[in-house]
Amino acid sequence: MVQLMEEVPRERMFREDYPYRSSMSSVMREHFATTARRLLATECHGDDPFVVEIGCNDGAMLKTVAAAGVRHLGVDPSRDVVELAAAQGVRVRFDFFQESTAKEIRAADGPADVIYAANTMCHIPYVDSVFRGVDALLGPDGVFVFEDPYLGDIVERASFDQIYDEHFYLFSASSVQAAARRFGFELVDVQRLPVHGGEVRYTLARAGRRRPSPAVAELTAEEGRRQLTDSTILERFGMQVKRNCEELTALLHRLRDAGHTVAAYGATAKSATVTNYCGIGPGLVPAIYDSTVAKQGRLSPGAHIPVKPIEEFSAPYPEYALLFAWNHAEEIIARETAFREQGGKWILYVPDVRVV
Ligand code: SAM
Ligand code: TMP
Repeated sequence: MVQLMEEVPRERMFREDYPYRSSMSSVMREHFATTARRLLATECHGDDPFVVEIGCNDGAMLKTVAAAGVRHLGVDPSRDVVELAAAQGVRVRFDFFQESTAKEIRAADGPADVIYAANTMCHIPYVDSVFRGVDALLGPDGVFVFEDPYLGDIVERASFDQIYDEHFYLFSASSVQAAARRFGFELVDVQRLPVHGGEVRYTLARAGRRRPSPAVAELTAEEGRRQLTDSTILERFGMQVKRNCEELTALLHRLRDAGHTVAAYGATAKSATVTNYCGIGPGLVPAIYDSTVAKQGRLSPGAHIPVKPIEEFSAPYPEYALLFAWNHAEEIIARETAFREQGGKWILYVPDVRVV
């Protein structure tokens, strides 16, 4: 398991004022609608199926389940986002998912056919309590499905900005398989996903209830071959990260010294790792433009770069835009055609530093 060693108290990250909105990306809206339709079609066969989502955020996935008239519950501890989900007709519980929460849900609503989590399991250090909760809540033939940034992609693409306080775990199929076994579960399927820079969707069932798909053995064998958690591989990763960071700061210094205008696009959580690790402050990047109202008018953590409304990105356009939201590159570059047409250039740094 690759994980952080220092844990930030959960109330400091997820309670009031949590700024992430799942629905702000059109690609993610489509991803969650497709996911919901697939779970409904493949896992919800009984008379009265029950779907639970851990970390439902603004309801991006569960609103499709709700619209299908299927019994469901979203559990999320961040007030602003559960209010958004509730406004979309999603049934929510404003709470941290853990063993005690799961037992209460089971007592009130009965067993779940599906427990789903996206980009949330990796945020929860107390994974043992979550697994015991899943054990208490899941029906005998139910599935626990979760997807998170994949260690294999992080190492391959040197996407070191996936490492930050909220991403406590960087899962691999091998680590999930080992964790599942400790709690009486089995990893029965894995699926690579292109979203958020490369993720894996893990499907877990109670041990012995489902035959694992060949994809599980294939991916764990590949991880073994790649020696993903071998110290030499991780040291090489560290050196590449250092190199990319030096190249990026050198490029930003050159552009500034030559009098070019530079701004950043997307005040992502990830970008806090880039700015603080590489030492990029308002002197090199005077502003970050972002569509999230809750982030606008604030300063980026640590580096203190002002975050401004996305509408101001074009007033006037900078010559260069550092794409902090590189995981949404396709969507953003396709939409910001006017920026390119008037000569603007994007700066990317994953998997390497380049200007496009
Ligand atoms: N699932 C959404 C997605 O993929 O876009 C939201 C992901 S967001 C990065 C992580 C979410 O997990 C936040 O909404 C946060 O409030 C929630 N969260 C954090 N700890 C949790 C816990 N113990 N139980 C349930 N949700 C939790
Ligand atoms: P994420 O990388 O954690 O998904 O965060 C993406 C950030 O980028 C979020 O703060 C919103 C911002 N963003 C925009 O400003 N415009 C966009 O078109 C997209 C997709 C994201």
